[in-house]
Amino acid sequence: MFFILLVLGLIVLAYIFRQVVVIGKSCKSNAKLHGKTVIVTGSNTGIGKTTAIVLAKRGARVILACRSKQRGEAALEDIKRASICRFFLSFSAKLVRIKDFSCTIQLCYV
Ligand SMILES: NC(=O)c1ccc[n+]([C@@H]2O[C@H](COP(=O)([O-])OP(=O)(O)OC[C@H]3O[C@@H](n4cnc5c(N)ncnc54)[C@H](OP(=O)(O)O)[C@@H]3O)[C@@H](O)[C@H]2O)c1
Repeated sequence: MFFILLVLGLIVLAYIFRQVVVIGKSCKSNAKLHGKTVIVTGSNTGIGKTTAIVLAKRGARVILACRSKQRGEAALEDIKRASICRFFLSFSAKLVRIKDFSCTIQLCYV
């Protein structure tokens, strides 16, 4: 009996750990972003890439700001495959040239 309770307790603890620590909280918003333009830096991988996909699925026009053109283009292909959004623009920039980057964005996309 004790062993069964111990195993059940461990299963419950593992479930709580998974829900709270591994999965964590997720955004429940259904807000749509049609007509909005979003620049996501570091969007060729990790959190930035996931953020770009989610924003695009919500209808935003997403500009990927990546420091490597090659990695940015590769991410763009992945994001296009994962997303239902048609409005994508790829942009590569060295983040040390923020002013140039900003001017280009204003000239091309605003
Ligand atoms: N992953 C998590 O669970 C987690 C949780 C909490 C906080 N964070 C923090 O959130 C941030 C992003 O996490 P992540 O997991 O998405 O990281 P990641 O996968 O390492 O992505 C980092 C992104 O930032 C770019 N980057 C790195 N150093 C840079 C620099 N010096 N100048 C310009 N761009 C640079 C990378 O570009 P390249 O590909 O060209 O290197 C890449 O696009 C990190 O600061 C991390 O500590 C992450």
